[in-house]
Amino acid sequence: MAGVTDRPFRMLCKRFGAGLAVSEMVTSNSLLYGSAKTLRRANHQGEVEPISVQIAGADPRMMAEAARYNVDNGAQIIDINMGCPAKKICNVMAGSALLRDEPLVSRILKAVVAAVDVPVTLKIRTGWDKQNRNAVAVARMAEDIGVQALAMHGRTRACAYMGDAEYDTIAAVKQAIRIPLIANGDITTPEKARHVLDYTKADAVMIGRAAQGRPWIFREIEHFLNTGTHMLPPAVTEIHQVMLEHLADLYDFYGDLTGMRVARKHISWYTKGLVGSANFRHHMNQLQSIEEQLAAIDHFFTQLQQHGERLQYVDGTETEEQGAEALAA
Ligand SMILES: Cc1cc2nc3c(=O)[nH]c(=O)nc-3n(C[C@H](O)[C@H](O)[C@H](O)COP(=O)(O)O)c2cc1C
Repeated sequence: MAGVTDRPFRMLCKRFGAGLAVSEMVTSNSLLYGSAKTLRRANHQGEVEPISVQIAGADPRMMAEAARYNVDNGAQIIDINMGCPAKKICNVMAGSALLRDEPLVSRILKAVVAAVDVPVTLKIRTGWDKQNRNAVAVARMAEDIGVQALAMHGRTRACAYMGDAEYDTIAAVKQAIRIPLIANGDITTPEKARHVLDYTKADAVMIGRAAQGRPWIFREIEHFLNTGTHMLPPAVTEIHQVMLEHLADLYDFYGDLTGMRVARKHISWYTKGLVGSANFRHHMNQLQSIEEQLAAIDHFFTQLQQHGERLQYVDGTETEEQGAEALAA
């Protein structure tokens, strides 16, 4: 996920039990290979294997080149993005816009599969729009070309993030292919993960937004799938420690200033819905140094502990607008 699954966050998710965590999408535009952002995205130092890098673009030759570049830089899986609805990506006919042009999809998949020796996986949506749900055709084509696993978000490109994800098309694709299928979209609880696995017969589930600020969701889902029972919510002290380690990793990875700014959105996600978090997040976004940021977190968690030993999310402690403001800051 662009802007979310950087190396520190991927490592954290894997630590909490995610079997696979895919990099932020890397553009196939080779002019950007030397940019600080692209270099940082190709940095997998210390990352738990398997290392999966997602590439995005619409030109088969450039996509093949991008795949090779990333394998040379440590990628053990190349994931192709045909699921992103963002205008910036779709306007250049990449991401989910590609689903409209099946011959081009075929050329891109063939070029990338031929370019590298590592497994190539694909991420798609259910189709272009509700009238054109062509995921089954695209999935079959991908399997025939040699793609080794498919992840599917249960919305069309036109749906963006509106409405609820639907799982019928994912179930239909599962019937049509033999390669592993990973179901995605609106999975926010262990029960929902169980439901989507049962309903679609998918081989795995993929968690996006629900892991933001709650990376321990992976161990909670794993526990529930294995035992049918829920873990206790994490202890406040544990999450305080997890956050401090995450922030230290962000400061180290991005450098102090950028790290402190990137940390703000994670702190917002971690604390959303916790007692007193609206005021805290507003205050936290004004802070300009690592020292102030860490002191504010210590203060917040000390207060939180007075409300109980375990994390408790409370509805109605802040308005949607306040939450959105904190996230935008
Ligand atoms: C901020 C953000 C960035 C995303 N970036 C990517 C991306 O780079 N590549 C991709 O395949 N999907 C991307 N997605 C889509 C997610 O991978 C996922 O398919 C979608 O959010 C639905 O899953 P969820 O309901 O579990 O979040 C992004 C989603 C969000 C919210």
